[in-house]
Amino acid sequence: MRVLLWILLAGLCLPTGLLAGKLEPFRDVPVPEQNPQTPAKIELGKKLFFDRRLSGDGTMNCGTCHDPEQGFSDGIDISLNYPTTRNWRNSPTLIGVAFQRSLFHDGRAASLEEQALFPMMSAFEMNQNLDFMEEEIRTVPEYVAEFTKVFGDGDVTRERVAMAIAAFERTLVSRDTPLDRFLSGDTKAFSPKALKGYELFIGKGKCTECHYGVSLADDRFHVLNVPENPEHLKDPRIAATRRFVAKISHFEEFRTLSEDPGRYLITKDQKDWKAFRTPTLREIAKTAPYMHNGIYATLDEVIEFFHAGGGKGNSALNALQLTSLEKEELRIFLEEGLTGAPIAFTPPKIP
Ligand code: HEC
Ligand code: HEC
Repeated sequence: MRVLLWILLAGLCLPTGLLAGKLEPFRDVPVPEQNPQTPAKIELGKKLFFDRRLSGDGTMNCGTCHDPEQGFSDGIDISLNYPTTRNWRNSPTLIGVAFQRSLFHDGRAASLEEQALFPMMSAFEMNQNLDFMEEEIRTVPEYVAEFTKVFGDGDVTRERVAMAIAAFERTLVSRDTPLDRFLSGDTKAFSPKALKGYELFIGKGKCTECHYGVSLADDRFHVLNVPENPEHLKDPRIAATRRFVAKISHFEEFRTLSEDPGRYLITKDQKDWKAFRTPTLREIAKTAPYMHNGIYATLDEVIEFFHAGGGKGNSALNALQLTSLEKEELRIFLEEGLTGAPIAFTPPKIP
């Protein structure tokens, strides 16, 4: 018993550098047993993903904020929104999303099937009534034929819509990056500067304490105290969105909530106040701006943030003492090393 206790204590006292995880090359995405991938389902999901019928006023589809041309994100600090409202968080890329075990910046959804209906219902995103969405899809004979082919009968349900969209999302992956080739034994995969950057990433930069595995993300939540954008704090439309989400998350003081509480919204555990999920770093060069609130426009700014030991008062990070050459090498690794073969994508024909 006593020995066990000592082992436990020793584990807690280890310098955090020793807790770094291992990077892994690309492998096939996990697929849930209840929703196997089939070519017809993926094709249906792709059509639904890009169908504006999924939004209340018919102006938006999922691709509006997860645009293939913008790395399946939308290129702005806080995401686009339903007309007259304003969103409150950055749109995450959907590349490699199938590897994430919890979804959203605060991890409030557990599966792609569960997640897909949220943006449709969300007043500040697609603002669509799900019964109405089902009826709209049901009126399109091509869709009924496709649902029959995929699910055995033509019944259009929200669950099936979500299953098809999830199947499509599982095809969005980053592969064949220099990092994948390097980890599979190709010692010449990186340019000399990217190789230096890789060594900093796993060494002096301590990035693999949190960014590891296939996605370079640990599926955990950390309080880095990323600065707030003062302009966002003043915008009453953002305040309305924040308080709306807080209210439906049973956050009692939602009316006075003046900043994004992050993971706390879900756990109500003080240690999760302003904790956000570690994001994937694959294809990171394509998905600026960065962080849950899009506060940083460039990778240089993000590297500067980690170099300085993160935001004021955080205890997750320490200052790094990187030279300006090392910062550049780290950026080149992120840009070159994590960019893979272009994702083959043909826009669907919407029925
Ligand atoms: C108006 C912009 C907008 C639209 C439209 C939109 N999204 Fe999103 N999406 C976001 C934002 C912003 C987030 C992050 C929200 C958060 O963390 O609270 C997000 C998060 C996600 C995530 C989680 C990603 C991750 O890494 O955790 C998935 C999956 C996703 N969206 C899929 C979809 C699908 C499917 C649709 C269409 C049914 C859709 N989105 C429509 C803006 C949008
Ligand atoms: C203690 C865990 C931790 C460590 C160590 C860490 N990160 Fe992060 N990283 C995160 C979290 C959490 C976020 C998201 C913060 C947010 O959205 O507010 C993030 C965000 C990022 C982003 C922005 C991604 C995006 O899509 O917005 C980049 C780039 C990044 N980190 C690179 C690095 C590099 C390079 C290092 C090493 C110098 C590093 N990180 C070290 C946890 C960590």
